[in-house]
Amino acid sequence: MTIRSLIVGCGGYLPERSLSNDELAAAYGLETSDEWIVERTGIRRRHLAAADETASTMGAAAARRALERAGVDASEVGLIVVATATPDSAFPSTAVRIQALLGNTSGFGFDVSAACAGFVYALNVADTFIRSGQVKTALVIGSEVFSRIMDWSDRGTCVLFGDGAGAVVLKAGEGQGTADDRGILSSHLHSDGRHGEILLVDGGAGSNGKPGQLRMTGKEVFRHAVSKLAAVVDEALAANGLSHADVRWLVPHQANRRIIDAMGKKLKLPPERVVVTVDRHANTSAASIPLALAEAVNDGRVQPGDLVAMEAIGGGLTWGATLARF
Ligand code: UT7
Repeated sequence: MTIRSLIVGCGGYLPERSLSNDELAAAYGLETSDEWIVERTGIRRRHLAAADETASTMGAAAARRALERAGVDASEVGLIVVATATPDSAFPSTAVRIQALLGNTSGFGFDVSAACAGFVYALNVADTFIRSGQVKTALVIGSEVFSRIMDWSDRGTCVLFGDGAGAVVLKAGEGQGTADDRGILSSHLHSDGRHGEILLVDGGAGSNGKPGQLRMTGKEVFRHAVSKLAAVVDEALAANGLSHADVRWLVPHQANRRIIDAMGKKLKLPPERVVVTVDRHANTSAASIPLALAEAVNDGRVQPGDLVAMEAIGGGLTWGATLARF
């Protein structure tokens, strides 16, 4: 008998304000076009947080929805792991702020910093706590307010990102230790700090003392993305004795439609088996996978028994993949 982390509830939260590409260009005086953005990225709209919204308020909203779907009371949660690159402050962590907003006092929480790969990292951390027997119920949340770290004069980055939060509830369950088990089968994480300069926030909550903004050499990141993501998904499948044909759904990080389509092709999945939100959400960094997962699970696309592959790459570079059976 093996302990498995079952994904028993998913929830998402998006700020009310949604801007089309044209509305964004007009609002920030950007020299860009809907045509350029759609052709290069697939992005048509993004949500932007209101002045009083933060990673913790949005993360708590997503968490409440996930808990409700799971039928789990906030008091039962033993661990909260939040993936975010835009915490409310250096400390208290976003996780303990969310813990307070949910009214939980018995568990513990902390943040994980792995940029756009943060959700896959956080899922792996929570899964490990559950498998070790230390925790029975966990909340894993990705919550990002990238609008606060944008250089709004840089059209090469500011059109690409949006704000939002997604959450999943994990519960300890039992399995046989085979790939037929329900729950998280395995996660595979990588990082390579030599590529830190191609995608970074150049200040902010760190110790270098100036407000930070996101900087990206998009072409370089793109170059790494498809090869590293394809390799890590293959690594995850091989570790479980599975093949491309076993994957029912791909829930990829939503950075660029061209990267998503390339990954779908590599896995030989028909387009309708690839969950896409980038057109409506843009890139919400660590929130993009749990937001996409919440859509596909809650609208009934993902069915019990389905194998879901999740993959992401982000600043660091950090990247990883998780396989989970629902
Ligand atoms: O979530 C973390 C992971 N991030 C990613 O995976 C992002 C990966 N990278 C990408 O998605 C793409 O590289 C971008 C969408 C960021 C850029 O697409 P690209 O095809 O690599 O374009 P580019 O950066 O090479 O820019 C091409 C041209 C440039 O003009 P010149 O130098 O050819 O005259 C840019 O100045 O497009 C120009 N450009 C724009 N034009 C209109 C850049 N941004 C814009 C814009 N509107 N918003």
